[in-house]
Amino acid sequence: MDKYIINGGGRLEGSVRVQTAKNSVLPILAAAVLTDEPVTVLNVPDITDVRNMVKILACLGCKTTYSGNDLVIDSSSANNCEIPRALAHELRSSVFLLGSVISRFRRAKIAYPGGCDIGIRPVDLHLTGLKRLGVNISEKNGYIECQCDKLTGNEIMLDCPSVGATENIMLAAVTAKGTTIIKNAAREPEIEDLQNFLNSLGAKVVGAGTGSVVVEGVEKLGGSVYQPISDRIEAGTFLIAAAMCGGEVELLGVNAENLSSLLHKLRENGCKLRIKNDKIYIRSDRRPVSVKSVETQPYPGFPTDLQAQMTALCTVCCGNSIITENLFETRFKYVPELRRMGADITVVDRSAFVRGVEKLRGATVVAHDLRGGAALVIAALAAEGNSEVLDISHIDRGYAGFEYKLSSLGAKIKRVGI
Ligand code: UD1
Repeated sequence: MDKYIINGGGRLEGSVRVQTAKNSVLPILAAAVLTDEPVTVLNVPDITDVRNMVKILACLGCKTTYSGNDLVIDSSSANNCEIPRALAHELRSSVFLLGSVISRFRRAKIAYPGGCDIGIRPVDLHLTGLKRLGVNISEKNGYIECQCDKLTGNEIMLDCPSVGATENIMLAAVTAKGTTIIKNAAREPEIEDLQNFLNSLGAKVVGAGTGSVVVEGVEKLGGSVYQPISDRIEAGTFLIAAAMCGGEVELLGVNAENLSSLLHKLRENGCKLRIKNDKIYIRSDRRPVSVKSVETQPYPGFPTDLQAQMTALCTVCCGNSIITENLFETRFKYVPELRRMGADITVVDRSAFVRGVEKLRGATVVAHDLRGGAALVIAALAAEGNSEVLDISHIDRGYAGFEYKLSSLGAKIKRVGI
């Protein structure tokens, strides 16, 4: 497994282009199964989650070809509605395929999904929603088996605004007979992106981005060439890295609107921010000031996917901070690793109490999940001396060319295979 060797303590300077959003691309690739006509997704990031999704599409019988970074999916030859355990375990987003596979074949069999080990990640809301559309579901031997004669639109009230459940139900509803209304839907920008993509295929979806998504079923979908939105979590990671290491960084191709909750906190930290069109410029000259309290919430609240990176930043702030994780229960696995670097953090239940220290020091640390791993990398960049971040395959799931982009900002980071 590869590791990063990082020589920290330097400032970050330069500009970096933000990748296409992982959390948009994955459900869009799943949605490509819905149509017989070719779909081209532009600027697909080269991350393991996408590679695994492409493997799953191939297993379903779809043809996938790359033209540069653009991915063409031809699902006309799709002929399999079963996703085996080994593939589903590689990727939590395999669960999105339930909605699109059931819509295409009226049958689906998928092993329980994998993904980051950040707590119990149930799929009950996905299944309840699909049942409301007329799908019969049985669960045996670690597989979810779905079958229906037809899909019929219905009103579905989600107990909590789950991103995945909202997307899965949208995917099943686009070809259902009649109208589906998803209430208490998640409002993440990636859901609006999925809506726009589905509509580009000829679907009739409105309301994404609000708590109520309305899908009017259509008989058939066509093809499309589509550019998904940029990755707000990758962008946020670079902004936090700049705040933590100090320096001047410009992000290109980013939607600042989707990052409001983070930008608000970074201003509280004392960073200077300038936003112009699709660029965000950040300058951090002094030791950041603590933000007192950060609580993760569904969008537009502070994203759970930036919680670890934000905690890393708080470790070197002037003053104390409390970070509360409200979405996933075991998302503090990186904390003992940060402590090895000299961070002063105590976790009680869902909150991390952080007392800012002047400097972190280099150490050997282990990445346990995607975002926690990214947090360790930026902490190592800010720390004095050398660090090693082990098990970086977790980071490869979501950040394309992370070390190249950081190196272009002057970071001293290199990947070593072990
Ligand atoms: C998506 C994102 C992930 C992000 C998360 C929250 C993708 C590929 N992943 O994950 O990066 O961290 O949103 O913003 O887009 N829940 C249930 N039952 C369900 C489904 C969810 O109880 O059937 C709960 C979860 O345990 C969690 C909360 O709902 O506490 C939010 O989860 P959800 O929004 O579904 O996250 P994901 O779609 O898995």
